[in-house]
Amino acid sequence: AKASQIRIYEVGPRDGLQNESKFVPTDIKIELINKLVAAGLKDIESASFVSPKWVKQMSDGVDVMKNLKRAPGVNYPVLMPNLKGYEIAKQCNIEEVAIFPAASEGFSQKNLNCSVEESLARFKLVVDQALTDGLRVRGYVSCIVGCPYDGPVDPKAVAKISEQLLTMGCYEVSLGDTIGVGTAGSVKKMLREVLTVAKPEQIALHFHDTYGQALSNLLAGLEFGIKTVDSSISGLGGCPYARGASGNLATEDLVYFLYGLGVNTNIDLVKLIEAGRYISNYLGKPTDSKVNRALGDR
Ligand code: HMG
Ligand code: MG
Repeated sequence: AKASQIRIYEVGPRDGLQNESKFVPTDIKIELINKLVAAGLKDIESASFVSPKWVKQMSDGVDVMKNLKRAPGVNYPVLMPNLKGYEIAKQCNIEEVAIFPAASEGFSQKNLNCSVEESLARFKLVVDQALTDGLRVRGYVSCIVGCPYDGPVDPKAVAKISEQLLTMGCYEVSLGDTIGVGTAGSVKKMLREVLTVAKPEQIALHFHDTYGQALSNLLAGLEFGIKTVDSSISGLGGCPYARGASGNLATEDLVYFLYGLGVNTNIDLVKLIEAGRYISNYLGKPTDSKVNRALGDR
């Protein structure tokens, strides 16, 4: 893999903490974000502005974003499902937002309570407003290889949504294997199709590690020249509406992996491991990062 420069987009404070059974207090969320910044991460998805009736864990987005002291040069994007979420987030002096349609109908219904088409119409309102306000917009596509409700997903469906997101004005499309069922084989097939409508520089890879395939999927993806990778501190993560989904590729494992490829990530692995320990200790569970386990006990 030619991977001289890779951008790591950290999703732990959002994807990770949205899926915890207990509500993580605002000050712990902020401390985690600050520790991730201290480790050198430059893109940290920090909150979501979704219905608190649906995801209570993220209901303190305003407090997180208003009380967080932002470091210069760090991007703190936030996620939302509709204009209502956008308007709330807008009070918090944000610079980048993320939207998240799915490539499958079943998951769209469960996660957004509407069809894919309806969700795209809602997301377009968000994108139009955000671009008017001078913000950047990132678009996720969920269920890029498999859906917990509909089964295998057609790569053409993923390409179609990706193209729509880019046409709307998203600067990047993050391809999410929401339930982590992808393999290097299915991911390559999907990417061949998506890269007929997008440039590799417009794509990010977002792998959940349910079946332990995240790193090999990533290696397959990097062969296509993709330069942005999503990961989550200590492998936290999952979606409450994706039955059986587990955490994301762990950031510690990603940094170790990239180091092995000769990619300088400018991340301090010791501090990253400390951040992983901090949140795992708070949650009262062992880290899901193998690298953290291997190095953290020394
Ligand atoms: P709904 O119930 O159809 O929405 O849910 P509604 O418009 O009928 O509103 C219901 C109530 O919620 C109303 O309040 C609204 O005002 C309120 P009431 O009048 O009853 O008091 N409401 C909101 N409040 C705050 N912020 C908002 C908001 N919107 C409505 N933004 C809805 C539809 C889309 C809102 C709901 O389904 C929802 O919030 N879904 C989000 C689910 C979610 O957060 N999933 C996890 C993120 S996606 C993910 O993890 C995958 C990803 O990582 C990629 C991958 O892994 O592949 C991104
Ligand atoms: Mg995810």
